[in-house]
Amino acid sequence: MAKTSEMSSIIFVIFFFSLFLPGNSHPFSRNLSMESLGLKQEKLTHLHFYYQDIVSEPNPTAVRVAAAAITNTSATGFGAVVMIDDALTEGPNLNSKLVGRAQGIYALAGLNESALLMVFNCEFVEGVYNGSTLSILGRNSVFSPVREMSVVGGSGVFRFARGYAQVKTFSFDLKTGDAVVEYNVYVFHH
Ligand SMILES: *[C@@H]1O[C@H](CO)[C@@H](O)[C@H](O)[C@H]1NC(C)=O
Ligand SMILES: *[C@@H]1O[C@H](CO)[C@@H](O)[C@H](O)[C@H]1NC(C)=O
Ligand SMILES: *[C@@H]1O[C@H](CO)[C@@H](O)[C@H](O)[C@H]1NC(C)=O
Ligand SMILES: *[C@@H]1O[C@H](CO)[C@@H](O)[C@H](O)[C@H]1NC(C)=O
Repeated sequence: MAKTSEMSSIIFVIFFFSLFLPGNSHPFSRNLSMESLGLKQEKLTHLHFYYQDIVSEPNPTAVRVAAAAITNTSATGFGAVVMIDDALTEGPNLNSKLVGRAQGIYALAGLNESALLMVFNCEFVEGVYNGSTLSILGRNSVFSPVREMSVVGGSGVFRFARGYAQVKTFSFDLKTGDAVVEYNVYVFHH
């Protein structure tokens, strides 16, 4: 028993002092060149697609997962939380070419107005963007002609992304609640 604890003390002391040795291979921070991460000069990209919010049966891609006690009596549906895996298509028609999916959440965050908090990732499947994602976070006042949300980051070809999305309702079916929304996304990335 004594031997074991003596050994652990020695190992601890060696480990502790090794932190101060020069040439430590795991420093907390270091300066890097952009080239070392394979980063090219920053560029600006415009993406255009349609977001298909299908809430109706038989195959909804936006599903209410939570609500507040006042949600049903609130004129704005305040408190509802909806999980989405909505198709992103090249054209406004649901059957046009799929360019990605919007996966995340929107929540009805306006007590007296129709304002969504949206937080979702767009995963693209098209061309060089296949497998890359953009993370969008913002306020979507659905009855305004044009809404703007932030692109807060990205992955793959969209590493270091920042930008904004301007969105316009293309169509809204009052009977089913299904909506098609046009997205124009402007994004800086490397
Ligand atoms: C990184 O570069 C800055 C500016 O040249 C310098 O002040 C800093 O000490 C460097 N940091 C490290 C960890 O080398
Ligand atoms: C609100 O309405 C939905 C569907 O109309 C129903 O499923 C749900 O139980 C209601 N919730 C409350 C808290 O009344
Ligand atoms: C919502 O409207 C009601 C009635 O007009 C008002 O009393 C309340 O302060 C408003 N709440 C917010 C958050 O705007
Ligand atoms: C996108 O990448 C996936 C996984 O690597 C691959 O299966 C798929 O065929 C690719 N799609 C396109 C449109 O290139």
